[in-house]
Amino acid sequence: MNQHVFPVPSALKSTAHVDAQSYRELYRRSLEAPEAFWREQAQILDWMKPFTTVKNTHYSPEDVTIEWFADGTLNASFNCLDRHARARGDEAAILWEGDTPGDTRRVTWSDLQQEVSRLANALRALGVKKGDFVSVYLPVVPEAVAAMLACARLGAVHSVVFSGFSAEALAGRIEDCRSRVLITADEGMRAGKHVSLKRNADAALEGLPFVEHVLVVRRTGRDVPMTPGRDRWYDEALAEASAECPPVAVGAEDPLFVLYTSGSTGKPKGMLHTTGGYLVHAAASFKAMFDYRPGDIHFCTADVGWVTAHTYLIYGPLANGATIVLFEGVPSWPDASRWWQIIEVYKVNIFYTAPTAIRSLMREGEAPVRRHDLSSLRIMGSVGEPINPEAWLWYHEVVGKGRCPIVDTYWQTETGAVLLCPLPGAMDLKPGSAAKPFFGVQPALLNGEGTVVEGEGSGNLCFADSWPGQARTILGDRERFLKTYFGAFPGFYFTGDGARRDADGYYWITGRLDDVINVSGHRLGTVEVEAALASHPSVAEAAVVGMPHEIKGQGIFAFVTLKEGIPESDALRRELMQIVRTRIGPIATPDRIEWAPQLPKNRSGKILRRILTRIAAGDFENHGDTSTVADPAVVAEIVRRVQAGA
Ligand code: PRX
Repeated sequence: MNQHVFPVPSALKSTAHVDAQSYRELYRRSLEAPEAFWREQAQILDWMKPFTTVKNTHYSPEDVTIEWFADGTLNASFNCLDRHARARGDEAAILWEGDTPGDTRRVTWSDLQQEVSRLANALRALGVKKGDFVSVYLPVVPEAVAAMLACARLGAVHSVVFSGFSAEALAGRIEDCRSRVLITADEGMRAGKHVSLKRNADAALEGLPFVEHVLVVRRTGRDVPMTPGRDRWYDEALAEASAECPPVAVGAEDPLFVLYTSGSTGKPKGMLHTTGGYLVHAAASFKAMFDYRPGDIHFCTADVGWVTAHTYLIYGPLANGATIVLFEGVPSWPDASRWWQIIEVYKVNIFYTAPTAIRSLMREGEAPVRRHDLSSLRIMGSVGEPINPEAWLWYHEVVGKGRCPIVDTYWQTETGAVLLCPLPGAMDLKPGSAAKPFFGVQPALLNGEGTVVEGEGSGNLCFADSWPGQARTILGDRERFLKTYFGAFPGFYFTGDGARRDADGYYWITGRLDDVINVSGHRLGTVEVEAALASHPSVAEAAVVGMPHEIKGQGIFAFVTLKEGIPESDALRRELMQIVRTRIGPIATPDRIEWAPQLPKNRSGKILRRILTRIAAGDFENHGDTSTVADPAVVAEIVRRVQAGA
């Protein structure tokens, strides 16, 4: 199946922003003359004070420096709002579709500019100033976009926390950046069910006395407890605030946001993104990879809590003046045609989603898709995990009717914006491949010895030199930043992923090489899930690995050893599932928990995950070199139990 190649549609060849020849020329120039190249790209933004230096970056083992456009100043909210509101104030910036069909809002550029300005003034009245952190725990509603842009307007730093995370996960993320202000909602809505956000927020804030103010958006209008002196209704605070708020000049290297993501060890990492480079990369790549045209309607299905939404639902599109569709609900509710209906109604031109959703909709067959007119679609994207060729072909044939190029975009929370992807007017498509590097990006495959693999081959996916959207550090932990990304292969940024390069120079991502798993496109550290399980009083220890999952890409398999004398039971299994939901959130719920009287370890006591991963994948014989296992009988017993339970 990997042999399929889909050529650039002939209409795009002549009209796309970037065609095959210009890609080659621009890519070469972006490496040979990066300063001149990025100086030009940066003109996609309005700068308050133009930068004189473009790039000051190096990855030497002694010193990692990442600075872009350092002496320029700008304001991200001005770039995403005012310059469009000025010319096209009455046109739609946001087309919001609520969880319940028929619950819609049209927000114009002027509306959004006013709302953002009022909110910025309200935040300022609460003492928020440049450099302060503000946490945001909201569903996919226009107020979430307003919250991000209002922070940006003041030069404050937003930290959006996925509204599916638990109170405890929220608390950890507030504590880490020490925001004094939280913006949340009474409730969220998901597939017809109410999600009690305010209740979670209250629980999260119990141990965090430094949070002084909570603004509460009325999403459902249900009664929720309000703490006097701390909590205020968002609409009341805005009603009192002026709709005039001049954007603050922010240094290009001043932070725009922090976003937490899982690593292979310890607590989630707060990836810190700065303003100038991030916005240049987001805006320029959005325009190129989706071949964006003025007037296009863009629908990215990601939740505001993930980087995909930060860059390609909000900042990239809005910086370009694109109209965005913001969808609060899920693709399967009330039925599996929800997205297709939205595409038809809003005449969506660009559609960007994740393979896991495509796989689950594929199971529903073609009928829900065929009921809707999807002829407005022009370009479709995929992100977050490798897309299997079957899902790619279904997406291309059934959804895109074979007309729309699919851009498979590879990037990470850490990279800020895309690193590998086909540009639709420039590259033939191979289902399952993220194609070639974006401008200025230099991929390198390194083998286990740290040697660069040339030509066709596989290795650890690394990047030589920086790109503008790159995260600058892990908030409060530069050491961890250096060790995680620059420690393994000195002189290179290491992604944590494996990849293969084929004879045409196309990249194929083979998946994570560390203890990070990708469940439905959501990144989780196995260690976090283990810690949640181990916090149950009956658990002695737990080991968590990824297992192949038809829809989710990877599922979560937990091997749990109970304390002496604790009986194994289904009730306990359910309790353990629940503790993970409480400590992290429903996305981290294990798909399978198997009791292990002991875990396989080497002689120095390290858990041998390699073996557990194979067993979880249903490979009961091939354990590779088992000579390191301290007690082989332990493996045999686990295999017996997993086989019996399968
Ligand atoms: O393993 C890669 C996978 O998702 C990881 C990054 O996850 P996160 O920071 O949550 O960002 C996801 C959205 C940008 C990567 O290390 N990944 C992301 N995109 C792709 C991918 N794997 C294969 N193909 C992709 N297009």
